[in-house]
Amino acid sequence: MALLDLHFAPQLAEIEARLAKGADPAEAFRGLDDDLFALISGKDYAGHDAVKAALPDYPDNHWISNCTGNHTLHDAVQEASLFWRLAKEAYAAHGRRGPLATATVADYGAGWGRITRFCPKDAGRVVAIEPNETFHEIWRQTRVPGELVASDFLSKKKLPVSDIDLLICFSILTHASDALAKNIAKRWAEIVAPGGVVLFTVRPGTYLDLDGGEIDRLSPADKAAARSAYEAGRIAYWPYPECPSDWGVTVMPMAYLEQLFGRHFEIIGPRYFLQNHTQLPIVMVRRQGGWFGS
Ligand SMILES: C[S@@+](CC[C@H](N)C(=O)[O-])C[C@H]1O[C@@H](n2cnc3c(N)ncnc32)[C@H](O)[C@@H]1O
Repeated sequence: MALLDLHFAPQLAEIEARLAKGADPAEAFRGLDDDLFALISGKDYAGHDAVKAALPDYPDNHWISNCTGNHTLHDAVQEASLFWRLAKEAYAAHGRRGPLATATVADYGAGWGRITRFCPKDAGRVVAIEPNETFHEIWRQTRVPGELVASDFLSKKKLPVSDIDLLICFSILTHASDALAKNIAKRWAEIVAPGGVVLFTVRPGTYLDLDGGEIDRLSPADKAAARSAYEAGRIAYWPYPECPSDWGVTVMPMAYLEQLFGRHFEIIGPRYFLQNHTQLPIVMVRRQGGWFGS
């Protein structure tokens, strides 16, 4: 017998009963804990066809590893689940905008919807912002729930969304140039509601001392330049030669984040993310007051 049937039959029966009554997937899975949701969403068990049909599919392994620094499906889903749990915790601790069940969540740089797919069971409305058309297509094919909003790679264009209560952003500022980061900061100031919470990741400063992974693409001289920029409180950025000039290896010190976001956001501080020591989540809250330009 499968683990699900052996130990979680009541939860499955409840989801199946809700689906039979015509509940949409967000309602059918409402409030389900993240680990169980992750297990169910893997669809690696017999039967329960209605449950499987209500859940999005996963894309090919190529896209899973391409977008997550070579993670397996299991690691990619585990990381997504733990990041979403951290986001909910940050919202509960710092949000001033009412319960998450009625809140609007935005996943900024959603990729193929790895993290986004966890949000609808807990949030009121879910918006996924993503510039890459290939991911838009994967999104449609795999039936990820939520509203997909096409953005531009430089984050220059205003977005047709506003009043976001919780914005999550995993592994975008880990790649952004100074110009792109400044555009992103403008977009967030426009779309996040006063009192709204933002949880985004940067590379920790220790990333520059690591061996292995993409930091090895920097020459010793590049690394030394990155370290002195970081130590001086500036962005350390090395553009990927194969990419447009605003995307590469990025490490942002806290002093830089203060300059980038401090006018519109109160930076609460970093959280340690045991799951992945190359990602440092930062929590901040949108300050009161309107948007006054750049
Ligand atoms: C490393 S992937 C992370 C995807 C997703 N957040 C996740 O953790 O699975 C980086 C994503 O950022 C997107 N991206 C690139 N430039 C962006 C921009 N200016 N604004 C928002 N997303 C961007 C890419 O298309 C890609 O989907």
